[in-house]
Amino acid sequence: MKEVDLTTEIGGLRLKNPVLVASGTYGYGLDYRDLYDPGLLGGIIVKGLSLEPQEGNPPPRIVETPCGMLNSIGLANMGVKEFVKVQLPLLRELDTHIIANIYGKTSEEYQEVAQILGDQEGISALEVNISCPNVKRGGLLFGAEPISAHEVISSVRRVYKKTLIAKLTPNVTDISPIIKAVEEGGAEAISLINTLRGMAVDIHTRRPKLGSGFGGLSGPAIKPIALYFVYRAVRSTNLPVIGIGGIVDAEDAIEFFLVGAKAVQVGTANFVNPKAPIEIIEGIRAYLEYHQMGDIKELINSLKEC
Ligand code: FUM
Repeated sequence: MKEVDLTTEIGGLRLKNPVLVASGTYGYGLDYRDLYDPGLLGGIIVKGLSLEPQEGNPPPRIVETPCGMLNSIGLANMGVKEFVKVQLPLLRELDTHIIANIYGKTSEEYQEVAQILGDQEGISALEVNISCPNVKRGGLLFGAEPISAHEVISSVRRVYKKTLIAKLTPNVTDISPIIKAVEEGGAEAISLINTLRGMAVDIHTRRPKLGSGFGGLSGPAIKPIALYFVYRAVRSTNLPVIGIGGIVDAEDAIEFFLVGAKAVQVGTANFVNPKAPIEIIEGIRAYLEYHQMGDIKELINSLKEC
């Protein structure tokens, strides 16, 4: 039997399969290499990078919740220059696309990070994080308003010529004006959803369980919300949509393809089952074979509407 075609296109980027790993859940791309070859993935989205190193938020930074987790890392990272010097040479050895997630406190900072990465061989695309709920400047503050979302994306677009993905927040009442704004700003694709704002309280200390008070909820608990956002996004733009939110197995991923996602990102599942992304790729392949589809494109956006 002919091998099924799992290739998919995100803007100018051709992925060998539609399973990416989400930023912030996969370190700088090499942490899982003792368990499997990361080159088997459709792509790796590395930890959010800023112009200067960031210490991040005070601990505790992670709290388990029913069917998910809250995080408030505060985008702790080594900074883009160190990443380019130390990590990127190792990542170039992998047979997959490396996508850098970037973050800035101002649109000028986003632009500077993009400029540094734009000059680097081995970075296939940027995912612009305008959706982190855990920082006082940048992140969600830019992504919750069309004007600021447009400003950040267009300033990055001015200096970055390869594929540009805008990572969007669900913490808005209507996602459509944000999608329109990033599209007009020059995004070639969108990824959604980032985490939902939430908190947890220790009833004995009477304090919030997270050091910063609140954080972002991820994991299976948010999958129905994520699926709905992706469904809406696909119907409000022609940009390719990458689905994120609570995907732990192939069935979850297939739901996202059915509503129109061209690729998915596996996030929180990496902490529970490190081999989840590989099992998901195999599960998608098996599903397509079982349903006698030769190409993932037959599955994408094939939902039967009620
Ligand atoms: O706190 C964090 O680093 C989370 C980042 C994000 O959700 O984008």
